[in-house]
Amino acid sequence: MAFNLQQAPSYYKSGDKLPGADPAIAAFVKENLKKVLHIPPGNKVLANHPSFSLLRPDPVPLAKILEECTHIPKPHHILYVSLPFCLPTQPENCGFCLFPKVDLQNRSQIRTYLDYLQRELEIVTPPIKIKELDAIYFGGGTPNILNPEECKDYVSLVLKYFTLKKGGEITFEGIPQLFTQEDKFQALKEAGVTRISIGVQQLHDHLISLSGRKQKREHILKALEHTHHHGLNHNLDLIYGWPQQTHDDALSDIQTLIEWQVPHITAYPLNILKDLSAFSRPPLRERIPDIHLFIKMYQTIRDKLSDHGYRQRTMSDFEKINADSDFKYETLSHDPLNCDIYAIGFSGGFRICGLPEKMGCGYLSPHILKDYYDQIDEGRIPYRAGILYAIEDLELVYICNQLQENRLYRDLYQAHFGKDVVDQFLPLWQAFLDLGWVEIDNHEIRLIDQGVFYSAHIQRTLSYQRTQELKTHQVLKGYKE
Ligand SMILES: C[S@@+](CC[C@H](N)C(=O)[O-])C[C@H]1O[C@@H](n2cnc3c(N)ncnc32)[C@H](O)[C@@H]1O
Ligand code: SF4
Repeated sequence: MAFNLQQAPSYYKSGDKLPGADPAIAAFVKENLKKVLHIPPGNKVLANHPSFSLLRPDPVPLAKILEECTHIPKPHHILYVSLPFCLPTQPENCGFCLFPKVDLQNRSQIRTYLDYLQRELEIVTPPIKIKELDAIYFGGGTPNILNPEECKDYVSLVLKYFTLKKGGEITFEGIPQLFTQEDKFQALKEAGVTRISIGVQQLHDHLISLSGRKQKREHILKALEHTHHHGLNHNLDLIYGWPQQTHDDALSDIQTLIEWQVPHITAYPLNILKDLSAFSRPPLRERIPDIHLFIKMYQTIRDKLSDHGYRQRTMSDFEKINADSDFKYETLSHDPLNCDIYAIGFSGGFRICGLPEKMGCGYLSPHILKDYYDQIDEGRIPYRAGILYAIEDLELVYICNQLQENRLYRDLYQAHFGKDVVDQFLPLWQAFLDLGWVEIDNHEIRLIDQGVFYSAHIQRTLSYQRTQELKTHQVLKGYKE
């Protein structure tokens, strides 16, 4: 029996039964989820559909898709610009980082990269019909490895090809010890930057030292001083579940950021994948807290911030209510049918969804710098792997992105896709209800309690079947007419 949006009672919570949900499937899903609850859910960007591992190198006619899909009128467009370079550390990659990057060995690498970036802009922007953006995010890598003059050139270069809407946001990311120079902030402000994202990770010097960074607490204070002085919006990233971190360490970090009145705090659970980082290998691996401590840290961070006037926006984002805390780039990125994401640079990710009646694609550019340069030398749009969306993918891209904000509007889903999302995944929602992770009414599904902490598990479960199909049948054969 199908679950009916109109006729159903209006509210379901833990312990309730969804009419028509197969109890055997729901129990099976619940048992399987219980087997992975000891795994921390990881950084949110890794849980979206389709997962990076499903993207295929088959060629996709990018210019054609860009041209066709950017014709579709969409209210919002955002741009990610990436700079690959980081300061070398010992252990490598700050010990925990899973993002592609390149150690900076000499500064001439920067000029070469900026030249290629300009050449990429020349290749990629002609087919894009939209030039006006809501938000631009300069991420990395470590963008603030640039000196003040390079910062200005970098931002200005992009603004030669795109303009920013009135009230638009430009975010510039970096690490604390490279945000201590006042003239860098001056340059960023003059270039049009409105928000600074500071990757603090840990406030205790003895803990951050495990990453091999030369970062000290005083660098964070200096960075904040300049941010305030220049009236820049800002967010600070923390990671909890760090090797040797105690519950009190996590609590004191959050209390400090509250005292400093940071308008937007991002607190990620440490993500370790196999043995891909020093933190995922012995001896540091053994010093990572167990899942109970992860959850306790999460709850403490959430409750402290809520008590001090912060609103939870995602599993890891908290913004001070009434603070002028723009979060435009991220908020828009969670609305794929109303917002396309363009990307420029090494390892950038495009998401041009299109609409159910004219679907687009998602793709990544190369994460090997030489490949990125070689493809631009050949006059091609840099491409590493991608997917041409089928309707199942578009639905899941929508669902997973909406769930980043811990809710999914059933009526909007019905309007976009012509079906009820509860009905579509009935036994899965029943399993989540049984676990106390969601509550459901006629208008929306809300993630609650540990459902928020485990939102990545919810996303993966919802996309599981399609993921298996993509793996098994190798559907991703590239663009077909
Ligand atoms: C693109 S990354 C790095 C940006 C910048 N270079 C920095 O180090 O702060 C953006 C954020 O992702 C988070 N992050 C990176 N690796 C992570 C991991 N393994 N687990 C959890 N969060 C991670 C960090 O909080 C980081 O600030
Ligand atoms: S500086 Fe940031 S991007 Fe670079 S390795 Fe460290 S965490 Fe990763």
